[in-house]
Amino acid sequence: MPNVVLHKNGEVYQGQVKDNSNLVVLAGIRQFPFPNLRYQCGMGKCAKCASRVLAGGEHLPPPNWKEKKLLAGRLDEGYRLICQLWITHDLELFQDVTPIPPAGAQTPCT
Ligand code: FES
Repeated sequence: MPNVVLHKNGEVYQGQVKDNSNLVVLAGIRQFPFPNLRYQCGMGKCAKCASRVLAGGEHLPPPNWKEKKLLAGRLDEGYRLICQLWITHDLELFQDVTPIPPAGAQTPCT
């Protein structure tokens, strides 16, 4: 069973998940990493779940088109959309306190 570590708000949350688990699906049914993982759509559309992979990224599949679209240059910083990942190996994540804006998001005119 993969071991998942989530760093957020200066706290460290750790839990084991079943092989091939999606962390957003688990949080949605109130299992670890609930309530500490931020997410919204669960479909790769909002980027609310974006987190930086600190360790274990070598076991993840390459970013899909949704991740490439929403994260763009942040992929190079190690960010992934957690809702798009099925976990098969140990993984360590950092989620910013403030959600990162999706790439290409329009800033309102002032
Ligand atoms: S929860 Fe919306 S992109 Fe992952």
